[in-house]
Amino acid sequence: MGGGARILEATPESIREVVDILLAGEVVALPTETVYGLAAVINDGGALRKIFQAKGRPSYDPLIIHALDLSGLLDLVEVGGVLLDKLRRLCDAFCPGPLTFVLRKRKAVSDIITAGKKTVAIRIPSHPIFREILRRTGPLAAPSANPFGYVSPTCAEHVRISMGEKISHILDGGPCEIGVESTILDLSGRRFTILRPGAITAEMVSEVLGEGVELLRPVASTDPAAPGMLRQHYSPHTKLRLFRRSAEEVLLNFGKDFGKNVAIVYLSRNHMPLSGEGKWAKNIFWLSEGGDWNEVARNIFALLRRLDGMQFDLICCQVPEKIGVGAAINDRLSRAAAKF
Ligand code: TXA
Ligand code: MG
Repeated sequence: MGGGARILEATPESIREVVDILLAGEVVALPTETVYGLAAVINDGGALRKIFQAKGRPSYDPLIIHALDLSGLLDLVEVGGVLLDKLRRLCDAFCPGPLTFVLRKRKAVSDIITAGKKTVAIRIPSHPIFREILRRTGPLAAPSANPFGYVSPTCAEHVRISMGEKISHILDGGPCEIGVESTILDLSGRRFTILRPGAITAEMVSEVLGEGVELLRPVASTDPAAPGMLRQHYSPHTKLRLFRRSAEEVLLNFGKDFGKNVAIVYLSRNHMPLSGEGKWAKNIFWLSEGGDWNEVARNIFALLRRLDGMQFDLICCQVPEKIGVGAAINDRLSRAAAKF
């Protein structure tokens, strides 16, 4: 599977080459601390359109811009007064890092990026290789480097397998440290809302702001007013069902038994039930040793992709409560399962 694209090991020479390719208006897949992104410069409409083409992404779904620092971010948005003060506090606490802000855009920001919206999503990534490139190219737009709707990539090989025919270069920065996409915090309305949960949790944001933030629920439709909130997203090709405590509940409902075509995934190796599944040990997987949510987040997309490449016709995966980083894992799994 996959092909075409060259995977470049990150060296000073390859980084220089990637900068030149980006400045020439081409797209390149780059590592970030969350997931791999498919990057293009923000002031070249042709380059931006190539992102949508390569991903098969509908033009109503806007892109995230990556800026090097707060001053680079402020060049692109209209923000002042109390809101600017709050933005500074959030940046001091969490940037560079996996937190994306939705703010009112400046006129100069391309409608291709924002899908015609008056707001723009921007984050300040922490990955050293991505930052080195940003220093030389200026801000880059980059959605996750996967075909629209499929599982996000957390290593260069994931990008090659699912996008290799559509792009020509992938810069390899090793596996992503966080493993799920950034938290998206909408600061453009009267109430601050989290449009997508991530490693920076609602609790962490509330603590810095000293006020509550609301967690928005995904919607079923393709409502352009709520891009990225599509209930079905991140889906493997193999049917996925979720359970909280016992995989047996799902299997009974589904008219299935433990067996060679069913994969069972637990959140933690240490909390797996002892009975029942024993004889199907080869069908049992786990996302962490001891239930550390950060470890689960780092492994979730890679495991879904791996299982998708095996001969299962059903994946049953345990979901966490929506607490802390568990909210992001729950969100991705619920959306991945919504297709089936
Ligand atoms: O961690 C991340 O954020 C990764 C890495 C590559 O940085 N990027 C990423 O981009 O996840 P993408 O395009 O896969 O997801 C961006 C989400 C989309 O769901 C999009 O709808 C939403 O951000 N978005 C972008 N601009 C928006 C806006 N102005 N208002 C509301 N949502 C917006
Ligand atoms: Mg994505």
